Amino acid sequence: MPDSRPIGVFDSGLGGLTVAKAIKAKLPNENIVYLGDTARVPYGNKSTLLVTDYATQIINFLLEENAKLIVVACNTASALALPALQSEFQVQILGVILPGSKAAVHATRNKHVGVIGTIATINSNAYSQALNEIDSSIQITAQACPLFVPLVEEGWLNGPVPSEVTASYLKSINVANVDTLILGCTHYPLLKPMIQEHVNDNTVLIDSAETVAEEAAIILLEKKMSADSSNKGLLKCFVTDSPVQFESIAERFLGYSLDNVRTVPIH
Ligand code: DGL
Repeated sequence: MPDSRPIGVFDSGLGGLTVAKAIKAKLPNENIVYLGDTARVPYGNKSTLLVTDYATQIINFLLEENAKLIVVACNTASALALPALQSEFQVQILGVILPGSKAAVHATRNKHVGVIGTIATINSNAYSQALNEIDSSIQITAQACPLFVPLVEEGWLNGPVPSEVTASYLKSINVANVDTLILGCTHYPLLKPMIQEHVNDNTVLIDSAETVAEEAAIILLEKKMSADSSNKGLLKCFVTDSPVQFESIAERFLGYSLDNVRTVPIH
């Protein structure tokens, strides 16, 4: 029996649309319900307790929307709250840390991997732990890049200011001579051209969105929860604040305009 229930995806803001986009590309028949917690973004400088509380509220909302699988697109929420959420809820919950780490271990040749993310993600050491659980010989250099999120939320992807900020953040990554860099934050794939320009030549950038989409596809197949192959998957978006800014920047993320983004009062 095909399962037409949606995949629930959430992020602290609109960055998680990079994950929704990858899921849509990999699983075009699946409906997706997305929530961007725009009223409370950023999560990257908040505590584990608070982020877990926010994520719990959001998952409850996505379950009311009948989600069959939850994807925590937010790296910070995955790093701080995933185990707690997985033990709290019965629905399967997929985070982004493990898929991104697997892809990085697969890509590195010199076994030196860089990780960039929010302050909370970097301080949690979640990527270092995941990388070393997969391969204990991997050396890791991590750098928090807190200014990247506001730059992306404002749509500032080019020009002298993002360029200077990027150059400054990536100094330690370049000195460490990593050959693979995990973009450990939903928003960073939007700065990919800028980041690629400022890393050492031949550094591979890992964007976990595609690997997460692949894992979601495997779960749906294994659990026999796939939608009908004739279904044209729809993306339904919710935010927790006014949708105006979200809609205009989302167009840049997705390559098409989103209308009908609705506000839900989760606070
Ligand atoms: N979504 C967050 C992440 O991937 C970035 C934005 C924030 O700080 O909330 O870590």
